[in-house]
Amino acid sequence: MLIAQISDTHIIEPDQNDPRTLERVSVLEAFVAHIGRMDEKPDLIMHTGDVTQDGKPEEYETVKSVMSALGIPVFFALGNRDLGANLAEGLKDLGGANLVDGFLIYSVDGFHVRLIAMDTQNRESRIGTTCSVRLRILEELLEEEPDTPTALFMHHPPFEVTTSKYPFQFDDPALADAFLRLISQNKQIVHLFCGHMHRQYSAELETCWASVTPTLPPDNRLGEYEAGYKERPLFQLHRWNPDVLRFETRLTPVEC
Ligand SMILES: [Fe+2]
Repeated sequence: MLIAQISDTHIIEPDQNDPRTLERVSVLEAFVAHIGRMDEKPDLIMHTGDVTQDGKPEEYETVKSVMSALGIPVFFALGNRDLGANLAEGLKDLGGANLVDGFLIYSVDGFHVRLIAMDTQNRESRIGTTCSVRLRILEELLEEEPDTPTALFMHHPPFEVTTSKYPFQFDDPALADAFLRLISQNKQIVHLFCGHMHRQYSAELETCWASVTPTLPPDNRLGEYEAGYKERPLFQLHRWNPDVLRFETRLTPVEC
């Protein structure tokens, strides 16, 4: 199983007078073209949120029109910049983003590894959160398939990203702990895929691995990268290795 993950595309309505808005769209187009040229295509694309800058229907319309050329399902997690109802309505046809009790939490089935999108959006601030309702929805989904390797994907990492100036991006450490406890109690969870930090990071948690994908666009990216990567759109390829029950991850520059 091969997954391509992108994050923090922050698509803004194209404005001819603002080159940054045009650049963000052309970066997404370049990613779609890159996937189209790959000999071995990913089974699915995973977007870990901040799909748009302001959560407007027109911005999701732009994303849909660019990404529908992929011909591969695309699944989205909710970023702090996104608006759940607009995202679900605008992008559900690309893969199946689904709101449950107002939260964007859903499973992606039919692949070697089951995926679950977790909603970490705090409706009142830019940092992440969770709550008893979300944890219950997640727990019920996990109970459906306790023996299937499962990866969660979400916007805000519920753990410290130690290379960041602002390493912890959850509002309440107790809620993050409750979330991490649920994860460690479910041994079928093999990986957490995150975004939001705009930088690359990986960590080994108590019972699984975790990683953060940097932004697709170069203009809003943080952190250090090898020569030739800084100015290019970046995404990550995750290949499932069933022998060691782990994803092998490769940071990949978009060929422009
Ligand atoms: Fe974010």
